[in-house]
Amino acid sequence: MKSRPIHIVGNWKMNQTLHEISEFFIQMTAMKMELKCKAWIAPQSLHIPILKEIAFTTGAIQVGAQNCSHADSGAFTGEISPAALADMGVEFVIIGHSERRTIFKEGNEILNQKVLAALKHNLKVIYCVGETLEERESNTTFKVIEEQLAVGLKNVPADKAHLLLIAYEPVWAIGTGKVATAEQAEEVHAFIRGKLTQNADQTIILYGGSVKPDNIDSLLRRENIDGALVGGASLKAKDFKQLCTSASVI
Ligand code: PGA
Repeated sequence: MKSRPIHIVGNWKMNQTLHEISEFFIQMTAMKMELKCKAWIAPQSLHIPILKEIAFTTGAIQVGAQNCSHADSGAFTGEISPAALADMGVEFVIIGHSERRTIFKEGNEILNQKVLAALKHNLKVIYCVGETLEERESNTTFKVIEEQLAVGLKNVPADKAHLLLIAYEPVWAIGTGKVATAEQAEEVHAFIRGKLTQNADQTIILYGGSVKPDNIDSLLRRENIDGALVGGASLKAKDFKQLCTSASVI
């Protein structure tokens, strides 16, 4: 039995049609699973209200966003307001995913503003960190992650620290089928926990990067791995259910 609750978080990225969403939940309901872990899903923002409605009727699944703005409102065409997310009853937001860092050029400073903006509205925040292959091979993994934590989590108020989760996602493992070994992941998770200055023992630290039903068990057995942030394998109800089942028996 783990001391911290296990979280399985599906990051649907820019995937799923309405039809696929309805199929996903029809299958989830048919499988009648009793969830003993926390099961969260972040769909495309457009689909959040639909998921909230389905999640309300099926219970158990919490719904979040994949990104939010650093500002509550204003002239930021195309952005998603953290105030609006909170107003919609959204439970969590992913901030600093490596695709936001690389494709949309979001650096640690702006991510820090986003983290603080989301926390202000009492959204739970999954703050993502992780090194590229080049950084791992040049032995700068810990330096990069230390910087991502120090800058990205600057000035988090003590009374909001319990809303913060961290996801360690080595960039070289995302969507590549190359999962970090449980030893590699645990080493970084322990490092991250050691760097947290508030609520360190209780903070949920997720692993992400090619997590699948057949590799999740060995990851979850590690002391500092409290769940997974899952892309590809969260899109199919059968796989998502399998991940949650594994998380329920650890
Ligand atoms: P993946 O994505 O599981 O498809 O590797 C993980 C993520 O990007 O969060």
